[in-house]
Amino acid sequence: MMTLARRYRFSASHRLHSPELSDAANSRVYGKCNNPFGHGHDYVLEIAVTGPVDPRTGLIISTSALDRFVRLHILQLFANRNINADLPQFARLVATTENIALVIAGLIQQHWAASFGAIPARVQRVHVQETRRNGFEVLLPAAAGKSQARIGAERILVHG
Ligand code: NI
Repeated sequence: MMTLARRYRFSASHRLHSPELSDAANSRVYGKCNNPFGHGHDYVLEIAVTGPVDPRTGLIISTSALDRFVRLHILQLFANRNINADLPQFARLVATTENIALVIAGLIQQHWAASFGAIPARVQRVHVQETRRNGFEVLLPAAAGKSQARIGAERILVHG
């Protein structure tokens, strides 16, 4: 078994605000990230795919097929968007990078089998780097691709 880690970049804006909290609490918890006009990041998404090396190709997975998959299911959704306003997944979910990583992991799991069900490679890890100092990682179970990630819309996560 071997792991391929492949990186993608996208720019998007977000605002950290929880409808579960008062305005004062939002301001206290999220600080300047609660600014009503939002702010942008150049996110770096790293996807780690684990599997055996196919003896015919010498590859774990076709990187061009993986790139098409990530463009179609992730980048088209997130790139150059206002995450709070443009993505229905964040209508009630706070647009922290923790939650962005969970939504991306869920989308990968939801669509993986249709594209890559015929090969043994599975997504092991999704990492979203938000700033030089902040990165968030979702580890997927070995059966990733067969079950859907559960995303708790009620969770309130702090950006800091
Ligand atoms: Ni931010």
